[in-house]
Amino acid sequence: VPKLLLDTDPGGDDIFALLWLLSLVNQGRAELVAVTTTQGNVAAAQTFANASQVLNLAGYGSVPLGRGVLLSQGSEDASHIHGSDGMGYLSQTLPPPSHEFAIAPAADDLLIEQLSANPGEITLIAIGPLTNLAAAEAKRPGILQQARELVVMAGAIQGPGNVTAQAEFNVWFNPEAAQVVFNSRNDVVMLPLDVTRQLVFTETMATLVAQTRPEHPLAHFLVNLCQFMVSTARQYRETAGSPGFLVHDAATLGYLFYPETLLLRRATVQVETQGELTRGQTLIDRRHKPKPRANAWVALEVDAPNFLASVVADLQQLLRH
Ligand code: BDR
Ligand code: CA
Repeated sequence: VPKLLLDTDPGGDDIFALLWLLSLVNQGRAELVAVTTTQGNVAAAQTFANASQVLNLAGYGSVPLGRGVLLSQGSEDASHIHGSDGMGYLSQTLPPPSHEFAIAPAADDLLIEQLSANPGEITLIAIGPLTNLAAAEAKRPGILQQARELVVMAGAIQGPGNVTAQAEFNVWFNPEAAQVVFNSRNDVVMLPLDVTRQLVFTETMATLVAQTRPEHPLAHFLVNLCQFMVSTARQYRETAGSPGFLVHDAATLGYLFYPETLLLRRATVQVETQGELTRGQTLIDRRHKPKPRANAWVALEVDAPNFLASVVADLQQLLRH
């Protein structure tokens, strides 16, 4: 069973990914060694509290939780998409967090501790800005190489971006950190907007999940969160008119557990950190000429219907439990 560590900034789609992951844990298909939270969609303390509340709600309150490394200079968050609490104002409806921010381990320390205790064994999944991973690498150079695999939801190859014309949120929020992560090994698995933009999760799908066991505490939560995310997606025209919202972060789990749904290309990914209009852009050079050493596998196509069917089936499993 693969050991997983999730770095996340919940975030509506982060929560769908986390619950999908917990369903896989529940089915005995994965082990979750820790969750680290990071500043991104909302502030670090809020992403931490959200992760704690959702872990609790799903019955996994005992999973160790790290608190995000603080950024000296903050970028604008994405609370206009995810709500000011990062989960569609549903945090007040849930039991309070069980982990305490003030005494929680720092995310970079927890990453270093877990990776060095299990060299070559942990699959690291990052679905927020890459601040914690870069901080761990700065403290302990080479530590990210100790992960069995490093899978990130990040970037946009063919464009457009979702924060600026070219940049995707997780890279744009901290491009220097993304650059550190892409330089940390030669096999970073990247799930860019090119594929995640096709993953439209609908209210019908949420209802299908909830109907499995309507009295389960997760049933209402999932439907309400989905409704909220759909309403902001509509407002910001994120799904090109289809009713639903984008489960970007879930793409990382699709890669790990349903790899037949994705096509990947070997590439050298570079991150723009300077450009006035292009800061946070990710590029691959497709010209036919000798290249610097490739550093990544980039997903460029996805079988969205089968991918989404797997998300629904696994979430149904979680509620059945
Ligand atoms: C990424 O940005 C965040 O808002 C989402 O949670 C996802 O990780 C998509 O660009
Ligand atoms: Ca995220």
